[in-house]
Amino acid sequence: MSTTLLLTNIDEPGLCTLPVYQRRGGYDSLRRALAMTPEEVLHELEASGLRGRGGAGFQMGKKVSFLPKGSMDKYLVCNADESEPGTFKDRELMQKTPHTLIEGIIIASYAAGANRSFIYIRGEYQLQADILDAALREAYDAGFVGENILGSGHSLSLVVHRGAGAYICGEETGLLDSLEGKRGNPRLKPPFPANQGLYQGPTLINNVETLSTVPTIIRMGGEGYAKLGVQTSTGTKLVSVSGHVQRPGNYEIELGIPAREIIYGLAGGPTPGRQIKCWFPGGSSSPVLTAADLDVPYDFDSLAKAGTMLGSGAIIVVDDSTPIINVALKVARFYRHESCGKCTPCREGTNWTVKMLERIDSGEATPMDIEIMASVQEHIIGNCLCVLGDAMAMPIGSMIAKFREEFEAHIAAARARRGLGADDAQAYSSALAAQGAAAVGAGPYPGGS
Ligand SMILES: Cc1cc2nc3c(=O)[nH]c(=O)nc-3n(C[C@H](O)[C@H](O)[C@H](O)COP(=O)(O)O)c2cc1C
Ligand code: SF4
Repeated sequence: MSTTLLLTNIDEPGLCTLPVYQRRGGYDSLRRALAMTPEEVLHELEASGLRGRGGAGFQMGKKVSFLPKGSMDKYLVCNADESEPGTFKDRELMQKTPHTLIEGIIIASYAAGANRSFIYIRGEYQLQADILDAALREAYDAGFVGENILGSGHSLSLVVHRGAGAYICGEETGLLDSLEGKRGNPRLKPPFPANQGLYQGPTLINNVETLSTVPTIIRMGGEGYAKLGVQTSTGTKLVSVSGHVQRPGNYEIELGIPAREIIYGLAGGPTPGRQIKCWFPGGSSSPVLTAADLDVPYDFDSLAKAGTMLGSGAIIVVDDSTPIINVALKVARFYRHESCGKCTPCREGTNWTVKMLERIDSGEATPMDIEIMASVQEHIIGNCLCVLGDAMAMPIGSMIAKFREEFEAHIAAARARRGLGADDAQAYSSALAAQGAAAVGAGPYPGGS
């Protein structure tokens, strides 16, 4: 059920050191890649069909091919910010097998013609940054990084840079600003980083897991790798499973297996007697699915068809012991806190959403607030500079669409506790329906409203 490429030998003592890594075939892919031309390496990456593992799922080989040819300075930046709630796969890779990432970065830089590279690592990951630094020193000493790598003529500098602890610095252009020493604010796109990225130079940005997969692709061959998984989602994927499951943790799966096999088969499902209420398939930014969706194949396109997304591969399971309002509040408060404040729909929309959820929870709200809240989410989606705003609006919108009755019941119960009748709430609702405003809630969320 679980297919391991990235996690093979992951718990071997000392794998984070060069001697053990090399005993397991480490840096053989680099030697093989350097014996090929950069174009041939790029061909393997394209043939693999590997899609980015950081969130957006863009094909990695295609991204490399977008970098202009020529002798200008080009950069490779590894996104190790890993701040999407529920995601902890990159941490395990960097901690236990840092040389896999370093090897992947060197091979990708060779294909992209980049000579300067950075690993931008989440500020809180001090242990992992120290481990990466130690591994990097070994790689420099062994001649895998630096000038004229293994006599190939390809040179690469690599720096581990620690972030300062903001979710928005995981967004690729916010990350670049932060790396340049500025406040981490997202940039307008286009231009895309492949053309104008770090220090205005062409830049390839990829996630830790994406780059860590590159040595495997060179070892198996692009076509060999593409035989794993399903047509538009090739290979294996690390999934971080958390929440109400009996065996939370990182699992490596072949893309396309039913989600049920991950949540129940690998992670053990909820504790006996509990049922799944909802689950986030790809981090807290993804629209929630319910127990009725457990047979959806876990791959990029099947999840998109189900109205959600694979995102970072972080499955968060919520069982029936948790009120949906608690889940919504947790999510909304996180995005309100992390909004950089640059654009109004995100800055104000996240704040309004938290306030409305608090009104619902405290009994100050009427069912009309649900309509307004749904409408706010719709006005955020697609209207922000980056997708942080959408990252709150999509899951909150999906919760309203799928758990409206529970929100309504929560309002009625909270109002009753305050001694307010349900009648006036009902009157609000009827007045609203009469104005046709209830239709405001209809929108792009899975399940509709
Ligand atoms: C608000 C926000 C936060 C993000 N955080 C991360 C992150 O922590 N790690 C990551 O790899 N990608 C993150 N991304 C996605 C990156 O912008 C980018 O798509 C990714 O680094 C590209 O790498 P990939 O193609 O290998 O997935 C984030 C995006 C947004 C909008
Ligand atoms: S969407 Fe939010 S986080 Fe992104 S730029 Fe606008 S205000 Fe900043």
